[in-house]
Amino acid sequence: MSTATESTAAAAGLRGVVAAQSSIGDVNGEEGILIYQGYNIHDLAEHSTFEEVIYLLWHGRLPNAGELAALNSEIRASYEAPAEVIALMKQFPKDADPMDVLRTAVSSLDFFDKAGHGTDRVNAMSAAVKLTAQIGTLAAAWDRIRNGKNVVAPDHSLNIAENFLYMLRGTRADADEAHMFDVCLILHADQELNASQFTTRFAARTLADMYGCVTAGIAALAGPLHGGANTAVMKMLIEIGDLDKADAWVDTALAEHRKIMGIGHAVYKTEDPRATWLRKYSKHMAEKTGTSKWFDMSQRIEQLMHEKKGMFPNVDFYSASTYYMMGIPLDPFTPIFAVSRISGWTGHILEQYANNKLIRPRAEYIGARDLKYVPIGGR
Ligand code: COA
Repeated sequence: MSTATESTAAAAGLRGVVAAQSSIGDVNGEEGILIYQGYNIHDLAEHSTFEEVIYLLWHGRLPNAGELAALNSEIRASYEAPAEVIALMKQFPKDADPMDVLRTAVSSLDFFDKAGHGTDRVNAMSAAVKLTAQIGTLAAAWDRIRNGKNVVAPDHSLNIAENFLYMLRGTRADADEAHMFDVCLILHADQELNASQFTTRFAARTLADMYGCVTAGIAALAGPLHGGANTAVMKMLIEIGDLDKADAWVDTALAEHRKIMGIGHAVYKTEDPRATWLRKYSKHMAEKTGTSKWFDMSQRIEQLMHEKKGMFPNVDFYSASTYYMMGIPLDPFTPIFAVSRISGWTGHILEQYANNKLIRPRAEYIGARDLKYVPIGGR
């Protein structure tokens, strides 16, 4: 590490440094704009479907009716995870973390898809389809296995959102919930080069196979400062328990220099456009269930954090109460993020394979130099 530019970049944790060229997604943090392949997230949330967005992220354009139908049937035909992987999951300790289980289960899918080792477009795309179809199957299966329930086989007549809720709960979601969940999957699909996206892309640049790259992405997503924040938000709301206690809870947390989960973003310095939708859904679920306390507490915390710190909620803040009021237990919250983000991960991996430019940052060495080795007896 020698130049001033490199040194500054390292000190700032690569903030603002371009590590790859991509046409998949872009975040304008100042204005709160997120686009996927040129389309504003609000337009996609309003009009599109998760499957259409998957096509968009993989192919760079929206599909026509025939192309969408072909993708739908490919994905639905791949919903079943290998029986061996489900059997393996049944051996795991029931208290294993759902993201650790998902990481291991997804990694093991690799053994059953030899073609998926190829990094050429045809083989990589086939692995992307399988991963996208099966990650929800694995996430739902684990929630049932750990709770001593039977694993629900996928229903090929359902889309990804409907099928996930069906496999998780054993009953079909109503049309309102299915649509809302589909939009949640759209909102979480891509976020430029954030931690897990960068991780998958960095792995892909070595021509590691699709399963290995996605496994690395899941590991990065699991952290509480990334995808794990949605679970942490709901735990916080449960701990606070009541709207009356929100002010004191936030004051104490800030006095103790604790972070309020679901608040703040490395790039958005204004409203995260995804939070706009999720706030609306949380409110909708509060009205639908007749239980307003989770939404009310969230709204109060949002207000307090804006007043006290000038900060805004991110995607995880209102997704927590939305999922909770949909009757989804906490354990699959972060795996649900992966059920959506698989589309962005695989999109970035495909893009990296197609134009495999080197990504090789440097570390600014701040350790000692020229030390003389002292044999162990002399230390
Ligand atoms: N609650 C309270 N204070 C927060 C905060 C939060 N959620 N997020 C950041 N801050 C404060 C930090 O304590 C720090 O204060 P200081 O300057 O007095 O030390 C300042 O804001 C900058 O924090 P930093 O962690 O450097 O911000 P960042 O832009 O690098 O981090 C996040 C972005 C998302 C990692 C951070 O906001 C965070 O940890 N949020 C909570 C976790 C979360 O929701 N993650 C999901 C992200 S989509």
